[in-house]
Amino acid sequence: MTTATASLDLPCTPDYDAWPVEASIASVSATPRIVTLRWSDGRESRYHSIWLRENAADDTTINPATRERILDLSQLSGWPEVERAEIDAAGALAVTFASDNSRLRFHPGWLRAHDYDNADDPEAPLVPVTLWHGGPESVADTLDASGLLESDAGSDEEARILKPALESVLGKGLVRLRGLPTEPGSLEAIARRIGPVRPTNFGQLFDVKAKPNPDSNAYTSIALPPHTDLPTREYHPGLQMLHCLENSVEGGQAVMLDGFAVAEALRARHPAAFETLTRVHWCYANTARVTDYVWYSPMIRLNERGELLEVRIADFLRGPLQAPFDEVETAYAALMMLQRLLREPEFALRFSYAPGDLVIFDNRRLLHARDAFEGSTGHRWLQGCYMERDEVRSRYRMCQRREREMRLSSR
Ligand SMILES: [Fe+2]
Repeated sequence: MTTATASLDLPCTPDYDAWPVEASIASVSATPRIVTLRWSDGRESRYHSIWLRENAADDTTINPATRERILDLSQLSGWPEVERAEIDAAGALAVTFASDNSRLRFHPGWLRAHDYDNADDPEAPLVPVTLWHGGPESVADTLDASGLLESDAGSDEEARILKPALESVLGKGLVRLRGLPTEPGSLEAIARRIGPVRPTNFGQLFDVKAKPNPDSNAYTSIALPPHTDLPTREYHPGLQMLHCLENSVEGGQAVMLDGFAVAEALRARHPAAFETLTRVHWCYANTARVTDYVWYSPMIRLNERGELLEVRIADFLRGPLQAPFDEVETAYAALMMLQRLLREPEFALRFSYAPGDLVIFDNRRLLHARDAFEGSTGHRWLQGCYMERDEVRSRYRMCQRREREMRLSSR
């Protein structure tokens, strides 16, 4: 374990993060192109010389003001080869590069955290994805957020509320916060605790309530089938927030489904239909009075590993299918299999909004729906906004960074 005195002398890292030294470097050996470290816990890590050169934290490699890279590898005099590698007095790795005789130092905590030689899956999600089913017993992860707006931005109190909330959004695609204010417009201040709102043609915030001359079925009292919002956009929003200001109507119960669980059920039960929906491009169109959004995309999108990336489902926003003639019946048959699954009660999580509730969900994963409501018996007013998944990940990483900083300062 590195001592507190020695840690003062550790070099900075090529980022603004905190990297506690969980294991110290016990020994180092090198060839011109590979540096091998043995750690105090017995792990062995190998680093390529060019990787080390590019990731140095000195001011020929990064701009110290921004910690962004300024080095252009192609401008080096040659391939950066190691002349000498050693552990210095602070416990850092010090590498002398033969090409320019530069001696660059590397923080052991940072090196250990970026050990690509031993990484199982460097691109693993921040929080493991957990598929869920609905049914009568199912409830969303629910947290008391009553102190959120009173907390200082970046404070421990804010992180105490936000971190578990973001964890639920990242893992399950859904969280319900309770005890928030009911002032109209307060959603924007709440949302900004996570990140910037994504404005759309419906505004920065949008009001979900029955209104005259609606430009969306959402702004009526009719039932809405399970859907994701804005599938008509090339990049449809990764996150949606719905904040309940008033709810005194009969009906209008909210329904949420894990679109990934439904898609995986389709893959297991009807693999050909699943494959069809990952391939056929559907038309999504919102040809309203003054806007005309159209995009074509598969209904289910996978990453290169075959894992679910997003679902894009909204029957009321599908335009006319423009597929190869011989694909049309296959496409519709697959669509109907998916639609039948979406109606199965096992997937539906039902709940009623109470004033002060805020539901945050992954709009590229979850489907939301609502029952019809009777507008003459009271008022139902939700305010909503959109955001991107990137903001959730960034905010969650900042919570993790804060925890690391606290661990570091407590030593
Ligand atoms: Fe919606």
